[in-house]
Amino acid sequence: MKPRLIASRQFPDSVAARIGAEFDCPFPAGRDMDAEETIRRLSETKADALLFTSHLKFDKDVIDRIPEHVKVAATCSVGFEHIDVAAARARRLVVTNTPDVLTDCTADLTMLLILGACRRAHEYEAVMRAGWGRGFGMGEMLGRKVSGKRLGIVGMGRIGRAVAQRARGFGMTILYTNPRAVAAEDALGAMFVADLPGLLGQSDIVTLHARGGPSTANMMNAETFALLPEGAVFVNASRGSLVDEAALIAALTSGRLFAAGLDVYHNEPAVDRRLAALPNTFLLPHMGSATVETRTAMGMRALDNIAAVLAGRPAIDPLWS
Ligand code: DGY
Repeated sequence: MKPRLIASRQFPDSVAARIGAEFDCPFPAGRDMDAEETIRRLSETKADALLFTSHLKFDKDVIDRIPEHVKVAATCSVGFEHIDVAAARARRLVVTNTPDVLTDCTADLTMLLILGACRRAHEYEAVMRAGWGRGFGMGEMLGRKVSGKRLGIVGMGRIGRAVAQRARGFGMTILYTNPRAVAAEDALGAMFVADLPGLLGQSDIVTLHARGGPSTANMMNAETFALLPEGAVFVNASRGSLVDEAALIAALTSGRLFAAGLDVYHNEPAVDRRLAALPNTFLLPHMGSATVETRTAMGMRALDNIAAVLAGRPAIDPLWS
């Protein structure tokens, strides 16, 4: 008999095909279920496992209501702020995430945000979609050069390091701040700055790659935005909770910031309409990992975790041990 699985989100075809082949699953392609439906389906089907994503807030209340027969819950995300890990540990529910497999795509998308914000991509695109029709003067609609600039990376984990690797190709001077300096071979020539204020004061472009959660909440606020050099560019592909959006909007409106490139927001999927109304924002809808290759790899990694636990082996990416 195949193990029973509930997939509470829509997944790429190849992931759905593996779910169909290896599991007894009522919705192998997944469909968007809220917490109540997820708990109900887990109970009705006597499921052994849950495959979900960060759309589901896996807080203590939800975790405490996950039926005992569920042995493992795998989130298809590297971030796990949506999960109360202590509650999962107390319930002895194995919970896993999907590190590594989305590093490249998230770093690629960060470069897209940097380039899009500095080079006014959405404004130029809008000109083209409106028919273009007149040449621009030499001083009109100018962006900011990316190559050779000073890039400040906040958070030198896997994704921060992958951004540094790409930025080297642009001849950028790279600085980073992190709770600790990383080993020289991981720093890829980037210079360690002990604290955030010190980094911000030296960065033409700053990009966030820190975790969400209480320790980083609103780390970018009126005070910290004011430390950036006039005309700096701000990029965030990590978590919206790191940024006080009212302060960001004020910095973009006053011209302290030249532009911002954002993939993440405080209140997703609702975006503060004032961000969308500003000409100097380049905005994407939380799509860092959204390629066929990476979403497939994430789904497969989550299924590998589920298969391991249900076969009595240790999880590959446990969030507690
Ligand atoms: C992640 O994997 O954490 C991405 O941000 C998607 O939630």
